[in-house]
Amino acid sequence: MTAQRILVIGTGGREHALAWRLSLDPEVERVLVAPGNPGMEDVAEIAPVAMTDVDGLIELARAETIDLVVIGPEAPLVAGLADRLRAAGIPTVGPGADAARLEGSKAFCREIAMAAGVPIARGSRHTDLDEALAAVRAADGRIVVKADGLAAGKGVIVCEDLETAEGAVQACLAEGAFGTAGHTVVLEELLTGHEVSVIALCDETAVLALPAARDHKRLLTGDLGPNTGGMGAFSPTDEPDTAAVEGLVDLVHRPILTELARRGLGFRGVLFAGIMLTPDGPRLLECNVRFGDPETQTTLPRIAVPLAPLLAGLAEGRLAGAAAELGIEGSLLPVDPTATTTVVAAAAGYPDAPETGDPITGIAVARAVGAQVWTSGVARDGERLVTAGGRVLAVTGHGPTAEVATEHAYAAMAHIRFRDMQVREDIGRPAPARPAVAIPVGSGSAA
Ligand code: AMP
Ligand code: GLY
Repeated sequence: MTAQRILVIGTGGREHALAWRLSLDPEVERVLVAPGNPGMEDVAEIAPVAMTDVDGLIELARAETIDLVVIGPEAPLVAGLADRLRAAGIPTVGPGADAARLEGSKAFCREIAMAAGVPIARGSRHTDLDEALAAVRAADGRIVVKADGLAAGKGVIVCEDLETAEGAVQACLAEGAFGTAGHTVVLEELLTGHEVSVIALCDETAVLALPAARDHKRLLTGDLGPNTGGMGAFSPTDEPDTAAVEGLVDLVHRPILTELARRGLGFRGVLFAGIMLTPDGPRLLECNVRFGDPETQTTLPRIAVPLAPLLAGLAEGRLAGAAAELGIEGSLLPVDPTATTTVVAAAAGYPDAPETGDPITGIAVARAVGAQVWTSGVARDGERLVTAGGRVLAVTGHGPTAEVATEHAYAAMAHIRFRDMQVREDIGRPAPARPAVAIPVGSGSAA
């Protein structure tokens, strides 16, 4: 049995990709997205119900005889939307509020990881400004400052000097920069290595990982600038390779789910582990309780099995059975041997204060050259789409190799225009070699 009428909740490119992938399954008759965005009309029906309108969402699900709800973003999960939907008898993908604290509180995530024996960075948790300042001074400012609560992917400040670190701690604990989310800060040892997102469908019976993806969190080319929700991603990654992903699921996901279960917290949803592959081994950086954005736009096109029966099984606590019916063995979802690269276009002013209202052109041309275009921060103005948020859209390119997929994504993105769009140039591309010796200023042409 699979779900025939599915409601996806959310507004962004992740939900656009989920709606697209679910609409491909032959058993699926209708896909609705609430509240969605006007760029998703190619794959889904848009239902104008706000994510915070829980009664309205339940009413919508009943009126449209929805048999599966998939919750995209973290805020409604942390607020308990999955609990309310399940209490109304609606099968739902997404953990309840108790388990969603894994994402809603970085301190809780560290507590669970430590109790579960999952390797994490050394760290501490503070509500007192002087204590936190003493800790950053002891680390000489080489430290990661994290607002404990939800901050739309912007509450983590990676600091390499004392001034930045003191400023970040003060912003959280003294200036209220992240509201109550920053009233507790987590300080972590600054780790280096390759980062990877390992995202798995989970219930009491099984853990099934999507292919690993690498996200690019910083705003600017060369991994510079502030952290964002994610400026692009690609899959597969050479490190970890497929075999290693299975090891990461055993190292991180399974122990965390076991520890949650030990505390009486069930988990029917998506567990996203952000992992740093350091020279000393993998370290968990964060847990999210949902699909990633833009990881979803880059991984779902690679999945070689239908998604709807798996999500329907997960929502009913029979993921293992649903996987067996599709012939899936082990803890990895079967994938097509293609590569994908997803490049995000963000509005001017993102991530602080994105500018809005600018016409967007070229989406149809980008699609005509075979790329997929996922819309996020867009609104309709008459016939036109205009910018309406920070991350405006994302383009996914495909190819037999990572290089071809990346060139495909950038060639398609070249057709898309809006005023002062911000696009990183190095998604899926190797970092340029740094010059071995400093080049004297003034000796060459200005670049
Ligand atoms: P988080 O939301 O906790 O994943 O943090 C956002 C980003 O900050 C991560 O994707 C990493 O790029 C970076 N980050 C988080 N924790 C650390 C750490 N302990 N060391 C180095 N970078 C980190
Ligand atoms: N791209 C990272 C996230 O979804 O949190």
